[in-house]
Amino acid sequence: MLNIGIIGCGLMGELHAIHLSEKVQGARLAAIMDTNPERIQSITSRCGPCRTFTEAGTMIDDAELDAILIASPDHTHADLVLHCISAGKPVLCEKPLATSEADAKAILDAETATGRRLLQVGFMREYDESHLLLREALSTGQLGCRLMFRSRAVNPAKDTERPADEVVTNSAIHDFHTARWLMGDEIDQIYVQHFPYHIDRPETCRLMNISLRFSSGALGSILINSECGYGHEVDVEVTTECGQVNIGDPLHPVIRHGKHQSRIIHPTWRERFQAAYLTEISAWINSISTDTPDGPGAWDGYRSLVVSAAAIQSIRTGKPQAVPQTVKPTLYKSG
Ligand SMILES: NC(=O)c1ccc[n+]([C@@H]2O[C@H](COP(=O)([O-])OP(=O)(O)OC[C@H]3O[C@@H](n4cnc5c(N)ncnc54)[C@H](O)[C@@H]3O)[C@@H](O)[C@H]2O)c1
Repeated sequence: MLNIGIIGCGLMGELHAIHLSEKVQGARLAAIMDTNPERIQSITSRCGPCRTFTEAGTMIDDAELDAILIASPDHTHADLVLHCISAGKPVLCEKPLATSEADAKAILDAETATGRRLLQVGFMREYDESHLLLREALSTGQLGCRLMFRSRAVNPAKDTERPADEVVTNSAIHDFHTARWLMGDEIDQIYVQHFPYHIDRPETCRLMNISLRFSSGALGSILINSECGYGHEVDVEVTTECGQVNIGDPLHPVIRHGKHQSRIIHPTWRERFQAAYLTEISAWINSISTDTPDGPGAWDGYRSLVVSAAAIQSIRTGKPQAVPQTVKPTLYKSG
């Protein structure tokens, strides 16, 4: 039975805590840490008693804990992951791995230097059934080469008017990873346009439209809607030489009745990807138990931030930007 400690017990940390305490085999919720005592109280009331910490470093170094799950705000991730790697502790870090390319590179270098994969990044769409079915359809080879990736990620209303840079590193980063994963290729050029909330606040982002080109020459397009007002949706489509695949929604089929066609839309990301989060954390626990790294790792976390940096540069310049390519370290060759 692995003892897991969670850092950050907000919306995401709470969901992971519930899964660990109620649903995941082979592990238990052994400790939690949050800077807000009310969040600690809320999790222990919901999930039962466990050890609590007020300092993340102390928790990471605790010998009784076998692995760490990071679900604190984005800007805290890089330092916490580096601490886990230097302590030799397996870690599942929520996306994004860091908020800058430089910090992500430092993590990649630190893990590569250990010669051992300790890190999994929370790109949970790799564990979503509809994404997996799309990938399976592509992998048969019957559809020919992949020519174009298209995704649309739609969120319900947000309280805050997010800056475009944050929409890139916090939201679009999911789509950058999905694009690389489903196309089996690296993004080598990016062009970002966005529509602000107000004309006098051009740094805010209501809508973002991203054009991609892959190393093979294939094309890509990503639409992010920060405030659609009706729910959470992620649509993905891949066009190939002799076909096209779209993700469906296995839980909510399209219903046609009385001259109408309808389908339920999930209210938030929690409902849409709940099953994927459970599969993700179960796979992570299994990967630690069997010492077999699984899923997106430091290389994927790093590459998504290289793409993000070029995207932010494109916002600044208003022009397409080349995405620098680097050689994948041997440690990640099989992943
Ligand atoms: N994979 C996904 O689909 C997905 C979805 C949502 C959020 N996330 C990621 O999960 C992380 C948490 O997001 P959230 O929506 O739960 O946010 P949240 O604001 O609900 O929760 C964050 C929690 O971290 C705590 N916190 C703040 N500073 C801290 C620190 N220095 N050390 C420890 N705890 C600290 C806060 O008190 C809060 O309880 C973010 O990185 C976010 O990008 C991923």
